[in-house]
Parts: sequence; structure tokens; C-alpha cells
Amino acid sequence: MAIFGKDEAKAAVQLDHTLLPRHVAIIMDGNGRWAQRRGMPRTFGHKAGVEALREIIQYSDELGIEALTIYAFSAENWKRSAEEVGALMGLLLEYFTKELEELHKKNVRIRILGDIDGMPQGLERQKSALHAAIERTKDNTGLQLGIALNYGGQQEILHAAQRLAKRAADGEIAPEAIDKAMFEKELYTNGMPDVDFLIRTSGEMRLSNFLLYQLAYAEFYNTDTLWPDFDRKAYDQALLSYAKRNRRFGGV
Ligand code: FPP
Repeated sequence: MAIFGKDEAKAAVQLDHTLLPRHVAIIMDGNGRWAQRRGMPRTFGHKAGVEALREIIQYSDELGIEALTIYAFSAENWKRSAEEVGALMGLLLEYFTKELEELHKKNVRIRILGDIDGMPQGLERQKSALHAAIERTKDNTGLQLGIALNYGGQQEILHAAQRLAKRAADGEIAPEAIDKAMFEKELYTNGMPDVDFLIRTSGEMRLSNFLLYQLAYAEFYNTDTLWPDFDRKAYDQALLSYAKRNRRFGGV
């Protein structure tokens, strides 16, 4: 495949939609370090992270990407300090309160990946805002925005297995009838295209329990850029890297 110069590459990615991933997943890492480098509390980094996120959602929509899934809060993130968890939950509520109508106008369909009702007590406003966002945008046909929240990939797979095991035990399905399609229907990403491209910022090389099933054939991109600095240009670079990949899905 041709080696593009930077500007050509941008044009190529933008003009040729066949070179774009259909489904991008992002681990938005590095907010805390971004803030600490500025002598600020970690929560300052999360605020800046929301700004970066807003821009990347907007750009994904403009590019015509079908699905974008972001890792907002893992099932393990409750271990962080009460102050940091509180700040993140505050940002979440603010985001859904302020942005919902704008996203709806853009025909964005919001999907929450994770256990909303299993979030701790005291977060009733967040839970209602999340359910309202799903309901409000459920018939939209534009960008599918997956927000992984109180999410764990292992938990997701276990729950899918439990639900299918129950149906088999109830005599509703035969165990040998459980195939890929049936299993995938039990995942939060049901109906979304396969994840083509995973971006992780801040240089960490871990999956952190994110989309363990769905990432089977995803291309991986890692950048040292911290999430609050991940802008349109950085996204272009990532998409360019994707456009140059030769995906083989186990073949040659
Ligand atoms: C990782 O950085 C980031 C998070 C755990 C939270 C990401 C959340 C947001 C950007 C905002 C919330 C989302 C919405 C939808 C409003 P880190 O804190 O682990 O950074 P570090 O590795 O530098 O410590």
C-alpha cells in the first residue's frame, strides 16, 4: 500500500470512507497525569478529558464513523478515592444533562455498556439520566456512541454465559445451538459492528478489562499523548495508521 505524506493521508482517510474503521473503541487514559504535570488535582484532568471527548465525538460524527465506544468508568474504578469517583460522577451527570439534546439533534444513538442499575446507591440522578439518554436516542440512526460505564469485559462475558446457561437449563435452547450470533446477542454491543480499531492513549499497554470479546480482531493503536491532549490531529494520525494496516483476520 502507498506510503502517504501527512496531509495526503488526512485527505485519503477523509475522502475514502472504505479506509475508515466502522467501529472505534478508545481507552481514554492519562487524565490524572495530565493534571499532575500542571500541578493540579486529578479531577482537573478529567474535566479536560471531557472536553477532548466532546471534540472526538463530534469529529467521529463528521467523518461518518458508524460506532464509537469509549471507556468512561470501569467496574474497578470504584476503588479510586471518594473525591475522584464523586468528581467523575458529577461530570457524567453534567455531560448527560447538557449534551443530550445536542447529541439527539445530531441523530446520535447513545448506548450504555455496563451495569447501570448496579451502580452504588446515591447515584440515582446519574442512573435516571443514563436511562433517559438511552430512551431519548434509541431510534436514532447516526453515530452509535457506546459509553462503557461500570463496565468489565470479564463480567460481560460471564453474564452472557449465565443468561444462556439459564435458558438452556429451562429447556428453551439446546446447549449445542449456542453459536457466535446467539452469544453476541447477549453482549452490551449487540447490534453494533465489530470493533475494528482500539486506541489507547498515554502509552500504557493494557486492555484493562475492556471489550475482551469484541476486540478479537481489532487493530491496536497506542500513543504517548495523554487523553486531554488527544485532538483532531492526533485522531487523524491514528486513523491514518489504521488505513495503512493490512488486516488478515487470521489468514495470510
Ligand atoms: C483514565 O485516566 C481516565 C478515566 C478513568 C476516566 C475517563 C473519563 C472521562 C474522560 C470523563 C467521563 C466521561 C463522560 C462520558 C462524561 P486516569 O485517571 O487513569 O489517568 P492516569 O493514568 O494519568 O492516572
